[in-house]
Amino acid sequence: DPVAPPDVTKCGPADFPPGAIPSDCCPPVSTVKDYKLPSVSKLRVRPPAHAVDEEYIAKYSRAIELMKALPDSDPRSFTQQADVHCAYCNGSYDQVGFPNLELQVHTSWLFLPFHRWYLYFYERILGKLIGDPNFALPFWDYDSPPGMQLPALFANVDSPLYDKLREATHQPPTIIDLDFSTADIGVPPSSSQVSTNLCTMYRQMISCGKNPRLFYGEPYREGDDPNPGAGTIETVPHNSVHLWTGDSTQPNFENMGNFYSAARDPIFYSHHSNIDRLWSLVRVYVCDSLDTKKLGYVYQEVEIPWEKSKP
Ligand code: C2O
Repeated sequence: DPVAPPDVTKCGPADFPPGAIPSDCCPPVSTVKDYKLPSVSKLRVRPPAHAVDEEYIAKYSRAIELMKALPDSDPRSFTQQADVHCAYCNGSYDQVGFPNLELQVHTSWLFLPFHRWYLYFYERILGKLIGDPNFALPFWDYDSPPGMQLPALFANVDSPLYDKLREATHQPPTIIDLDFSTADIGVPPSSSQVSTNLCTMYRQMISCGKNPRLFYGEPYREGDDPNPGAGTIETVPHNSVHLWTGDSTQPNFENMGNFYSAARDPIFYSHHSNIDRLWSLVRVYVCDSLDTKKLGYVYQEVEIPWEKSKP
């Protein structure tokens, strides 16, 4: 069986990395009801963050402002929404029936679906707060050249979309390094960064993500240890963009560079909108299936006895 959702009445203290200020990440306990998807009358269109207009920015900023103004005790508040990420990613829950195994939504096939639902409810809350059921989150289109820097709407220090715990040397117009790792700290982007990024995307999405297991990550089933293995998209660009955005002078690259703090930066939700979009982009083509060698398999040679059996 797949790994079960947690028993929400049993939320414990999260494990914080060294240097972090511990906080309580547990949501208030309430009864869990089955969610029924409302019928869709109009599709919400998520726009690329670098191309939105002033009207959109004002609306989104207002929505985040209202969310931040909710009391911390409100499950819809900005703080509690960020803490959801902490609770499910820093060991606040055990796997039901396995008290020695913590529940972890990263580094497995749970990664994409967990974050899709997380963003869905976050977007619905924002829409509700501004009375616009069609409100859609912006996505950070960093896999395309015009989007390959921190989107301007998040870099305005007077905006509720701003977060001061970000890497100072990665402010716009610095080109993002989609394959960023700790070895790249302080290294300025090269003049070929844009094309390097495009190759990184091709490598992660196509060359290395050839089958569902490679792309989505390893299965995570009842009784399994957490973190069975990340898919190609989770490792790069997902993890690398987190690290690139966070402040390298903080103990754990806060905010974006660590699970417990990542969702305290509003840009988290645009980063994840893009990851979610890249998931929806994956298709397989009939033409790629014509040569089984491309899929990595052949059949052992055997006789074909019917070849000469024309009736
Ligand atoms: Cu739950 Cu981008 O991490």
